[in-house]
Amino acid sequence: MQRVHPEDSERQDRIEVRGGGPLEGPVAISGAKNSVLKLMAASLLTEGTFTLRNVPDIDDVAVMADVLRAMGVAVRRIGDALVIERPAAITPEAPYALTERLRASTAVLGPLLAGTGHARVALPGGDDFGPRPIDMHIAGLEAIGCRFEIAGGDVHATADNLVGDSVLLEFPSVGATENVMMAAVRAKGTTVIDNAAREPEIADLAGFLNRMGGQVTGAGTSTITVEGVEELCPVDHAVVSDRIEAATFLAAVGMAGGEITLVGARPDHMAMLCRKLGEMGVRTSPDPDGIWAMCTGRLRSVDVSTLPYPGLPTDCKPLLVAMLSVAEGVGIVTENLFSGRFRYVDELMRMGADIRTESHHAVIRGVESLSGAPVRASDIRAGAALVVAGLAADGVTAVADPHHIDRGYEDFAGKLSALGGDVRRLRPVG
Ligand code: EPU
Repeated sequence: MQRVHPEDSERQDRIEVRGGGPLEGPVAISGAKNSVLKLMAASLLTEGTFTLRNVPDIDDVAVMADVLRAMGVAVRRIGDALVIERPAAITPEAPYALTERLRASTAVLGPLLAGTGHARVALPGGDDFGPRPIDMHIAGLEAIGCRFEIAGGDVHATADNLVGDSVLLEFPSVGATENVMMAAVRAKGTTVIDNAAREPEIADLAGFLNRMGGQVTGAGTSTITVEGVEELCPVDHAVVSDRIEAATFLAAVGMAGGEITLVGARPDHMAMLCRKLGEMGVRTSPDPDGIWAMCTGRLRSVDVSTLPYPGLPTDCKPLLVAMLSVAEGVGIVTENLFSGRFRYVDELMRMGADIRTESHHAVIRGVESLSGAPVRASDIRAGAALVVAGLAADGVTAVADPHHIDRGYEDFAGKLSALGGDVRRLRPVG
C-alpha cells in the first residue's frame, strides 16, 4: 500500500496550470449556484416532490442537500436533476456543522417560517470577505410578522401570523430580498419590497415561486410586489445559467487568447461585464448557443467598480484583477460590496503581479507576464482567478485548497482542459 505523508497529500490536492494558449471551442455553462441554493431552500415551502434541472454538480449544492436532509427532506441527484421530496412534517432546524460550511443556508429562514411557522438556524459567522451580517434579512422578515431571538449562536424565529407590509431594504441585499420574497409568498395580503436586489437569480426565484402558485411581480426591478397566497404546489424548474461561471471562462479566454463559445450563457445577464471586457480587448457577442468570445493580443487596462446588479458583480472582481495584472497600463478596482475580498492579491503578487491595495481600492500596474508559482485559494472566486492567472503565466501554477473552487464550479479543470488549456486537477492518493 502506498504511504502518503500528510503534507504530500495536501500538496497533491491542487489544480496545476501551465501557461500558454489559445483556448478554442465550446464550453457548457452550468446552472447558477446562487440560484439553485435558494430554489432548494424554497422547496421547504410546501409538501410534495420538486424537480430542479440544470443543477450544477458542486459542493455547495451537496451541502445544501445535507441541510434539507437534516430537516427530514429526501434529496436525490439524477443526472443534472435534483429530486426533492419534502414530507408533510419537517424539523425546521439548520445545525451549525452545516451552516458554517455554507452561508447561503440562511436562505432556509424565510421558507421555514412560511412553511412551518418556526425556524432555528445556526448563524454561519463571518468569512474572508469580512463580516456577513443578516440584520437586513431579520428586519425584512420582522416587518411581515416574524419574531426573532438570537441565543447560543442560533437564530430562533417564529411566525404565527405572516401579514404583508412594506419592506424597505437598507441596501439591495440579494439574500435579504430572497428571504423576504419566500416568506411573503404565504403572508396574508400584499408585501412590497423596495430597494430590492435585481440580480437574475432573484428573477429565477420569482419564476419558481410563481410556478408554485405564488404571485410575485416586479422581480428584476427595485420594487417587488408579493401577493400572499394560501396554497402552493411542488414544481419542475430548470435553473438559470450561471453568469459568474460564464464570466470566469471569458476571463480565461482574455488571459490565454483564443475563441470560445459559452453554451447556455445569457448575454442579457452579463451586459456590464461584456462592455468592460470589450474595453479591455475581449470581443463578445450573443450567439444562438449563448455567447461567442474572442481575444487576440495584449489586454488593455480599465478602471472598474463593483456594484449590485446590473453593475459589475463583486464575484467577477478577482477575475478582473487577474486580467489587469497582465494588461497594458494601470487599472483601479474599487470594491463596494464587501469590506474584505482582496486576499488573493498577495497570491497574484507571488506570481509577479504589481498591485497595491488601499482600503477598498486596488491599483494594478500591468506586467508583461506572470510567472507560475505555488499559490493558495482563499474562496471560490479567488481560487478561480488564480487558475485563470496561471493561464497567462510562464511555467507551472499550483493552486492549493482547490476545495474552495469545487464549492462553486463543476469540473473547472476539466472544462478548461477541454478548451485546450493545460489544466489538471490533482487529488490526494491513499
Ligand atoms: N449585508 C448586510 N446585512 C444583511 C445582508 C447583507 O449588511 O443582512 C451586506 C453584506 O455584508 C454585503 C452587502 O450587504 O456587504 C451585500 O450582501 P448580499 O446580501 O447582497 O449578498 P449575499 O446574499 O450574502 C450573494 C451571493 C454572493 C455575492 C453577493 C453579492 C449567494 C449564495 N451569494 O451573497 O456570491 O457576492 O450576493 O452579489 O447568492 C459567490 O458566489 O462566491 C458569492 C459570494
